[in-house]
This record gives sequence, C-alpha cells and structure tokens, in this order.
Amino acid sequence: MDAIIKLAYLVSAILFIFGMKRLQSPATARGGNQLAAIGMLVAVVATLVSKSILTPAQMLAGLVIGGAIGAYMARKVQMTGMPEMVAAFNGFGGIASAVVAGAEIAKLIQNTGTASGEEFYLYTAVTIALSVLIGMVTFTGSFVAFGKLSGKISGNPMHFPGMRLLTILLAVVSIGGLVWMTMGATNYPFEAYTTQALTIEFTEPMIYGAIAVGIAAFILGILLVIPIGGADMPVVVSLLNSYSGLAAAATGFVLNNTSLIVSGALVGASGLILTKIMCDAMNRSLLNVLIGGFGGDSQIESTGLSLEGKSISETSPEDTAILLSYAEKVIFVPGYGMAVAQAQHAVRELGEELQKRGVTVKYAVHPVAGRMPGHMNVLLAEANVPYDELFEMDEINGEFDTCDVSVIIGANDVVNPAARHDKASPIYGMPILNVDHSKTTIVLKRSMRPGYAGIENELFYNSNNRMLFGDAKDSITKVVNEVKAL
Ligand code: TAP
Repeated sequence: MDAIIKLAYLVSAILFIFGMKRLQSPATARGGNQLAAIGMLVAVVATLVSKSILTPAQMLAGLVIGGAIGAYMARKVQMTGMPEMVAAFNGFGGIASAVVAGAEIAKLIQNTGTASGEEFYLYTAVTIALSVLIGMVTFTGSFVAFGKLSGKISGNPMHFPGMRLLTILLAVVSIGGLVWMTMGATNYPFEAYTTQALTIEFTEPMIYGAIAVGIAAFILGILLVIPIGGADMPVVVSLLNSYSGLAAAATGFVLNNTSLIVSGALVGASGLILTKIMCDAMNRSLLNVLIGGFGGDSQIESTGLSLEGKSISETSPEDTAILLSYAEKVIFVPGYGMAVAQAQHAVRELGEELQKRGVTVKYAVHPVAGRMPGHMNVLLAEANVPYDELFEMDEINGEFDTCDVSVIIGANDVVNPAARHDKASPIYGMPILNVDHSKTTIVLKRSMRPGYAGIENELFYNSNNRMLFGDAKDSITKVVNEVKAL
C-alpha cells in the first residue's frame, strides 16, 4: 500500500510538472490545466486513502460538493474578475497551510496530554512555524488584494503614521516566535542541526510562540498590502501566489507529504518568476512595486508633459471601416478596455472580415496589457483568434513601421510613447508597443480618462491618430457592419 501511495504522489508530481510546461502556450494551456487538475485529484485521493481520514462515501461526497462549488465559481466569474478570484484562492491556500500547522500542534498536545514532553523533529518545529507565518501573511494579504481588485476597498495606497515601524516590529515578532519554536534544541551541538533526525522536546511556551507568529503574521499581511496601489495588485497577487506555494511546501514537510512539497515548490518558484516577468515588463523593481504606492482609484499623475494647445481628432465607424478595408496591414492592439467591453468576439469578426478582403491582420499582445498575466491571450483564445496571428511585443514591435492602421482597443498605458522619453512619467522605461510608428492609429475608448497608471497619453494627440469614442464592443460591432456593407 505504501508503495502505491508513493507512486501516486510521484505520478501527481509528474502531472503537475507536465501540466505547467503546457501552460507555456495558449494552444496547449487548457490541456495543461486539465493535466494538473488530474494530478491534484490523484494526490488528494492518495492522501485520503493513505491516512484513512475518510470513508469512500465521505470522499465521494467531498469531491462532488467541492467540485460543484469550484465549477460554479469558474463558470460564474467574469474574465475581468479572474485576478481577484486567484487572490481569494491564494488566501484560502495560505489559511489552509496555517490551519494544518495548527492541527499538528494540537496533535502534539493531544499525544502528550500535558502539552509538553513530546519529542519531535526540529525541522518539524521550523516548518510548522513557517507554515503559520507564510500562510497567515498570504491569507490576509490576499484578501486585502481581493478587496482592492474587486473595488470593495479603495485601490489607493493607504498609509498611517508609524506604519513602517509597526510593520518592522511585527516582522521581528514573527521571526522571534519562529526562533522561539526551536528553542528546545539550543543545547545540541552544531553538527546535530545538520541531521534531519534532530529531536526537541515539545513545551508549552512553544504554543505561545506559534500563536505570536500567527497573530503577528495576520496583521503583517494586511500592512504589507494596503500601501500598494491598485495598479500593482496583479504583481502582488503573483507574489502572494508564490508565498502560498512556499507555505504549502512548508506544510508538506510538516506532514511528510511529497506531493505537497513538490506542488508547493512549483507554485513558489513559478510565482516568483511570473512576478519578475511582470516587474521587468513594467521596468520596475519588485522593491519599487512593494513600496511605490503606484496607481490608485483617482490618481492622475503629473508627467511633466504638456499637451496644452494640442487637440485630438475624432473618427466614426464608417470612416474607420473604409480606412481598414483599404489597408494592406492592420494590427489590433487589445488592452484592458477590450476585457471590460468583452469586445474580443467582435474584434475577431472584424479581423476575419478584413482578411476576406485581403488585408493582413495581426494581433499585438503586450505582457502587462489588461489586469493579469496572459489576460489578452486568454480573451483572444476564447474568441478563437488563431494562435499564429497573435504576436508578443518583441516579435511584432518591428512591424509597426510597415503597418497601415493600428487599432488600439481599450489599451492605453501599454501604447503610451511617454514611456520612451518622458523621464517624469511614472511609466518611463516601460517597454511599449510602438503603435505610433504606424501610418495611422485608431484608439477605441469611451472618454479621455487615463488608464491604470493615471497619466495622459500623448499618442491621442498625434496628427495621425483618430479617436473612436464609445464602448469598444459597440464601436467594433458598428465597424464590422460598415465593412460588411461596403
Ligand atoms: P489601461 O492603461 O488600464 O487602459 C485601459 C483603457 O481602457 C482606459 O483608458 C479606458 O478608457 C479604456 N476602457 C475601459 N473600458 C472600456 C470600454 N468598455 N470600452 C472601451 N474602452 C474602455 O490598460 P492597458 O493599456 O491594457 O494597460 C494595463 C495597465 O495595467 C498598465 O499600466 C500595467 O502596468 C497595469 N498592470 C497590468 C498588469 C498585468 S499582469 N496585466 C499587472 C500590473 C499592472 P475609458 O475609461 O476612456 O474608456
């Protein structure tokens, strides 16, 4: 039986790795997700069977109820609500790790009857404390991120006097509690620390150490996320995702569960890599994100750029249809507004209509367009845009020079030329899509309001730019009808 369980864990770990590998391309991502889900099912069943936790009927009931809730949530969630759902899931992952660690402490108390005297491994003490620490920070941090993303709490950075000091104090208490948990081992020679089998005596004060870690980490999670602006929440969610993985891996050590260690480590590492990719795409350091307080609900930054005296030119769906129909090459540049408007199907239809007329159509995807990694890829894939028409920023940036019309659908910051030359701009240095190199640009948005960075966009005032105001889906639908009528 033991061998079968170990094999099941190995199989689940392999499925996680292959599942993740397949997430690299939109074409294989769905299959990858399914592989990882099967891996999780194998791991859950193996754990339940090996620990004889539940009867088969209870297991089935749990799977059906849990599966139904998951399926309902996944169906119900709007694409734009995805980041906050991920944030909530991270939070649940964090609290699960902390609770499992708490249960291990309860087990130690129960075994000894007196809450002291039980011998246990030093690494178990460390991993219990780490599970509580990282799990709690992830829990509260994720729910603050959830609140900011869903608009339930203000997206503006929040500060109060003495906040930094309190944060440092709580970090010290957390680490202090962690060290306290391992105090029983202080009399051992140094070599003993290098062996896994080192045991320490479980004493009552250790419980207080764990409680101190739990409470300090609970508040720490809140304090770490409230000063971060709403615009940076996706980066924070990715970082918290990585934390939830680390907490799960720590819990895997507590429970001696290989599958949990492997999956936790995978989530921890991939979350960190994703965080770095996002920071690079915004040309900002992680530290700058964590303390920068960048972007909020109502923030409009002064960029030092003067657009006074410049005016914008408007266009209509009819004129846009004519321009597009007679173009040789058109590049669509989707952004957050396309997600809000749910315009992806209309965009694909427009692309197809133009292709019928011999126009070359491509889609340019900026790595941080939208509000979550891969946001645009997911939407365009949902609308069945062929993958070979989708191009990453680096692949397509050279092509704007030969592009007749770039159609910018609800994108703003990711096409703002200020990022290239305006040193006063908060997005200075962020790589952008070079849409302004096209012969003509058409920007679809509802108003002159800024994007998430809260700054003006000089592209809108260029002489070769036309603004097509309105909801992106309505506008594109009108353009499609006009193209068809031509
Ligand atoms: P934004 O700069 O946020 O601009 C979105 C634009 O869409 C707005 O200017 C808005 O203008 C327009 N819009 C909203 N609803 C619309 C609708 N129904 N129809 C038409 N237009 C609509 O978007 P972006 O260019 O995609 O840039 C993303 C931003 O998020 C960047 O600043 C990026 O750094 C940040 N960010 C992204 C991520 C990830 S992972 N994607 C992570 C962290 C930060 P109106 O209100 O006038 O319509």
